[in-house]
Amino acid sequence: MSRRDGKKWRAGVLGATGMVGQRLVKLLADHPWFELTGVAASERSTGKTYADAVRWHLEGPIPEEARKLVVKDLEPTLDCDFVFSALDSSVAGKTEEDFARAGYPVLSNSKNHRMDPDVPLLIPEVNASHAEAIRVQRKNRGYDTGFIVTNPNCSTAGLVLVLKPLADVFGLEKIFVVTLQALSGAGYPGVPSLDILGNVVPFISGEEEKMEAEPQKLLGKWDGSRFIDAGLGISAHCNRVPVVDGHLECASVRLKKTATLDEVREALRSFEVSPELASLPTGLKHPIVVQNEDDRPQPRKDANTGHGMAAVVGRVRECPLLDVKLTLLSHNLVRGAAGAALLNAELLAARGYLKARISNNARNAEPVTR
Ligand SMILES: NC(=O)c1ccc[n+]([C@@H]2O[C@H](COP(=O)([O-])OP(=O)(O)OC[C@H]3O[C@@H](n4cnc5c(N)ncnc54)[C@H](OP(=O)(O)O)[C@@H]3O)[C@@H](O)[C@H]2O)c1
Repeated sequence: MSRRDGKKWRAGVLGATGMVGQRLVKLLADHPWFELTGVAASERSTGKTYADAVRWHLEGPIPEEARKLVVKDLEPTLDCDFVFSALDSSVAGKTEEDFARAGYPVLSNSKNHRMDPDVPLLIPEVNASHAEAIRVQRKNRGYDTGFIVTNPNCSTAGLVLVLKPLADVFGLEKIFVVTLQALSGAGYPGVPSLDILGNVVPFISGEEEKMEAEPQKLLGKWDGSRFIDAGLGISAHCNRVPVVDGHLECASVRLKKTATLDEVREALRSFEVSPELASLPTGLKHPIVVQNEDDRPQPRKDANTGHGMAAVVGRVRECPLLDVKLTLLSHNLVRGAAGAALLNAELLAARGYLKARISNNARNAEPVTR
């Protein structure tokens, strides 16, 4: 889905030097619709080339197209058609508003605007219709071509993807979930090594609140003027464990309709997205993978399933307290962050929400008219 002039959409990444930003830079290399044309980060990085500013954590080299880009500050003048935001939440809120007001579509990973009443919290496979709230957001805030769309917290992303077919087929009442969350979810440098080596930290600031609130919006409805919560009972316990990538979650679920374990497995296994979503470059036709082995999924073995975009489910069994319990795993930096924002951008490009902006070079070359 290229621009009307046949060129790729020009993407910028705010917070490009961080854990999520680096994933975005890597996912944008060789993307069929998007090209990376701008990067921004903190004062520590501005003015340096991306290669000099970044402490690269990913396998393989820094993508060639990113190496020589000069890291900019957070002024909304980046040379691109739209931006991904992977900024620390201390600066994300205002910066994302500044960019949206200046006409940039903003695809955000940060928590700041997720629960705003006119901002879509989007997982295309779950609530693609919530994108329609962009129209109301623009009207409310006086944005012209800009807007803000967010993706959920990393542990919510995998959980809600797995809950979606259960909600559709059986209806949901209550969810009790315990997470075992990877270190890369805390950014870099994250949790000090002496706190986490050979240990588990049973607290992640703000995480349980997000996991209890965000699914209500994601599994709820957009009625044309406001979001209506799903009204679920949710209780979450969140733990940090010494794993590099991949959040494991143990969930128990109370369904509205009685179901056998085979029916639950079948609902998960047969979950298939629309042809529109399956045709997006980052989309998977079957984004939930069900495993039969007793000891799977495991972060090291399964986090990259479906290029990191799948939610992997195992150990579907009866729950003596609620109805069904299961274990799920998703890659926190891909399905839970960079890949999620990329899929949102692809959906919005396909649906005509992006507009080409004049590039800074073309603008500078324009004759001055008096
Ligand atoms: N990690 C995950 O799994 C995950 C999942 C979902 C959502 N998120 C959210 O995504 C965002 C990024 O997370 P992360 O894990 O990538 O964090 P991170 O590794 O700490 O990276 C933070 C980024 O923000 C920039 N930054 C920090 N302070 C800044 C300032 N004052 N002005 C301008 N830029 C500033 C940093 O630039 P410098 O390098 O120049 O300091 C860096 O590029 C956060 O809001 C986080 O909550 C993370």
